Amino acid sequence: MKGTAMCPGSFDPITYGHIDIIERTAKIFDEVVVAVFDNPNKEHLFTPQKRVTLAEQALSSMPNVVVERGEGLLVSYARQRGIAVVIKGLRAVSDFENEFQMAQMNRSMGNKVETLFMMTRPEHSYLSSSIVKELAHYDADIGQMVPEEVARELHKQIADDHG
Ligand code: PNS
Repeated sequence: MKGTAMCPGSFDPITYGHIDIIERTAKIFDEVVVAVFDNPNKEHLFTPQKRVTLAEQALSSMPNVVVERGEGLLVSYARQRGIAVVIKGLRAVSDFENEFQMAQMNRSMGNKVETLFMMTRPEHSYLSSSIVKELAHYDADIGQMVPEEVARELHKQIADDHG
């Protein structure tokens, strides 16, 4: 499909669940902008710059994917960048209510931006950045959930925060 799609999120940190959605989006659109926003409802473990760097490393093999720091409201950022399509991953019914609310709110604020949902693969349906952080906190094996570099940085950040 011609054009650019945006995959927004807080990516704290990027997981194989995100990577799968971005990879599938990159097969449909000419270009994908992965926009790393702050989610005011969450306390982030990593700085925005670190979240961008980890996403860049994880997505470096995808030539039509760029990672950017998203600033301000998602709809304003999309408008500034001339992007009309936002792709969100949907894991389970539990995601639906929040995503539905955000999509409706975004539509009411900027009706040129269309939100489309892509179902995650079943093997990623249980995966979230929050779960990965919790498991890393207990030093559990997260090798199936995030790229090696992300796992390393997670363990390091958690150790630093407790040091
Ligand atoms: O990965 P997340 O944390 O579920 O992503 C949520 C995110 C960052 C996409 C959302 O918090 C967002 O859109 N933030 C930008 C600010 C904004 O536009 N808020 C209004 C949402 S209706």
